[in-house]
Amino acid sequence: MSIEALCCASPSLALIKYWGKKSGRRNLPATASLAVTLGGLYTRTRVILDRQDSVTLDGVVQDPARFKQFFDRLRQKAGRSLHFRVESKNDFPTSAGLASSSSGFAALAVGCTRAAGLELDSRELSGLARLGSASAARSLFGGFTLLQAGAREARQLYGSNHWPELRIAIVLVSREVKPISSRRAMEATRTTSPYYRAWLRSASGLLEPAVEALRLRDLNVLGSLARLSYARMHAALLASDPPLLYWLPATVAVIRECGLLREQGIGAWETLDAGPQVKILCLEPDLPRIRERITALDPELKILVASPGEGANCRVRG
Ligand code: PMV
Repeated sequence: MSIEALCCASPSLALIKYWGKKSGRRNLPATASLAVTLGGLYTRTRVILDRQDSVTLDGVVQDPARFKQFFDRLRQKAGRSLHFRVESKNDFPTSAGLASSSSGFAALAVGCTRAAGLELDSRELSGLARLGSASAARSLFGGFTLLQAGAREARQLYGSNHWPELRIAIVLVSREVKPISSRRAMEATRTTSPYYRAWLRSASGLLEPAVEALRLRDLNVLGSLARLSYARMHAALLASDPPLLYWLPATVAVIRECGLLREQGIGAWETLDAGPQVKILCLEPDLPRIRERITALDPELKILVASPGEGANCRVRG
């Protein structure tokens, strides 16, 4: 009888960023990352076995090459020739710098495993998800996660209840698909940016104090380290040949507004990924004020609010 797996996962937002891959083809991250799983944003994925592999995302057929290594690994684990039909939907904008590949591959890992009748533990699932997207190794878990440089799988440091009042206000600056995927941009940074080595050297120094600030739930220390991490990552990107710039005028306006808010004693710590959206780390009581100030900047800016969420889950029918 054919099994239908219905899965759900939330994106993983890195506070300390991974950017760049170790050489070789196993998709191992060159820098360590520390992240929070964004509860409130979901990728929902349905997987069934089929005669050939196919993936649609929000109804759009995806390039099979992007999934081949991932499906091949599943076939290898299962020891038989399986094929997967995958239908996935995001309830937030796709490929716009909201880490949709992290939740996408995490949901795919749990879904395909269940559809294939395999029993994998969470470490193995995290390693499998990493083949699709390194940040997906983290999305497997809820709460706060760590993916070490060169590691095959992520691990959970704390569950979502470690810091219940933490909020992430996601300012949607643009709904356009980003001009260059993070995969290609990372490779361009590695091969053409003279700052790539400096990025690798400086990245390792941010991790330990950030893990400690997370343990202490110290938003000001964690937020300032998160700012250094994204700013250095984007500096390396900007120094690529040709230069890579994801920011839009509204991105810069929101970054500056966060600076003004902090000057006025409101903890609003922004971070950015490979896209123009700005994610603001803050505490729940400050959220109304932050929302008001961003809306005053531009009433068209939509704000999504996430809190530390749960890891990927799956149920089967049939
Ligand atoms: O996992 P990928 O290949 O989509 O790359 C994610 C890169 C960043 O989002 C910029 C940083 C991170 O650690 O998530």
